[in-house]
Amino acid sequence: RIAGPCGLTIFGVTGDLSRKKLMPAIYDLANRGLLPPGFALTGFARRDWADQDFGQVVYEAVKEHARTPFHQSVWDRLAEGIRFVPGSFDDDEAFDRLAETVKQLDAERGTGGNHAFYLSVPPSAFPTVLKQLSRSGLTDQSDDSWRRVVIEKPFGHDLESAKHLNHIVNEVFPEDSVFRIDHYLGKETVQNLLALRFANQLFEPIWNAHYVDHVQITMAEDIGLGGRAGYYDGIGAARDVIQNHLLQLMALTAMEEPVSFAPQDLRAEKVKVLSATKPVGPFDETTARGQYTGGWQGGSLVPGLHEEGGFAADSITETYAAITLEVESRRWAGVPFYLRTGKRLGRRVTEIAVVFKRAPHLPFDSTMTEELGQNALVIRVQPDEGVTMRFGAKVPGTSMEVRDVTMDFGYGHAFTESSPEAYERLILDVLLGEPSLFPVNEEVELSWKILDPVLDHWAARGKPQPYKAGTWGPPSAEAMLARTGRVWRRP
Ligand code: BG6
Repeated sequence: RIAGPCGLTIFGVTGDLSRKKLMPAIYDLANRGLLPPGFALTGFARRDWADQDFGQVVYEAVKEHARTPFHQSVWDRLAEGIRFVPGSFDDDEAFDRLAETVKQLDAERGTGGNHAFYLSVPPSAFPTVLKQLSRSGLTDQSDDSWRRVVIEKPFGHDLESAKHLNHIVNEVFPEDSVFRIDHYLGKETVQNLLALRFANQLFEPIWNAHYVDHVQITMAEDIGLGGRAGYYDGIGAARDVIQNHLLQLMALTAMEEPVSFAPQDLRAEKVKVLSATKPVGPFDETTARGQYTGGWQGGSLVPGLHEEGGFAADSITETYAAITLEVESRRWAGVPFYLRTGKRLGRRVTEIAVVFKRAPHLPFDSTMTEELGQNALVIRVQPDEGVTMRFGAKVPGTSMEVRDVTMDFGYGHAFTESSPEAYERLILDVLLGEPSLFPVNEEVELSWKILDPVLDHWAARGKPQPYKAGTWGPPSAEAMLARTGRVWRRP
């Protein structure tokens, strides 16, 4: 579907996210013919720029990061709709100028008064920007035009601050005009999880506590914090990734079949499963957290967190976090869900591994099954998107030896179609007013409710354990699974 007449204003255009993801995604959408011909992109920032200067910034971002080929004609048409409004967030006049610009765009580009505001700004700036949008009349919608707001995470710091923020947002925008971005929901493989579960007969009958031993959800990164220490210190891995991306993945893995894929039906199931989810204690034994130190990664020696600069020497912020959850429902009772994420780990990989119970009986000589593990279904979210099934097979030869083998489905092999980048899909959904892939306030609050007890416990415990860059986390990570005789997968 092609978006109807509209414009988009980005706050925070000088940030990394804008340059690497948002601007390229807008170009890619234009290139695929999914934006309206008169689409208008406005930047707002504290820079002494004219429209052309901002245009040049967008151009460079597109040249460097767009995924689709560059076409001068597509760029020229997009560039005609680029505007810039200089100003700071507390500057009333600047917002009045923005309101004027949005009005002019309607006349010049035919945006029909439809406009989305993308808040790619630090959370501390959300309230000011929202109030300014409202004060300057930019939030006023009429019967035949819409105004929407897109909010980047982190959405709060804990349950209380998230509630406060939701309150502020909803004072200015009705909930159906609020689009909270969790870019993991825009990833192709995450949506494939729904296809896998609900388009097939094969998996659903065994998708429960009778057959599943446990579930491991991993989001591992090989990169360190680099220049992001300022954002990250005080936030940490659990707030940065578990509270949003991993809990959403867990919800999609554990939820019941929705009545339909209509937004309200999908959310109803996610809310139900998040409401039933609890962290399992005692947290000293069932969770792990760490901070990376220098080490070898991918053949080069990389610095530790504290050598990179920007991180307080006595910071207790974790760069690795792992927690144990349980979903209190008939389907999942007793099945642990292990969620882990970290920077500077062995390699970059995101996956959901559903690990099955062992066969109740093995009619083989026990020396013949020593290398047989548990069956597993692994949804490879990234990179190398696909699905792997692990099961036992006979080793060729005269004896009845059984060993693990894998069966692979790879997106790259099975399909020739290329998938849009997550931000592309999500920005288009905002412009279309299609809310399925955006968590609602209730989901955000429930996610904090799950995580808060663990965060409080960690805060009281002080410094996280160190782990060497290039490894799979601190010793406590292994210990939290070993206590029940389990091990983390090595993707
Ligand atoms: C972001 C986190 O949400 O996701 C970052 O704030 C992280 O810390 C990033 O690096 C990873 O995204 P992706 O799409 O590369 O897995």
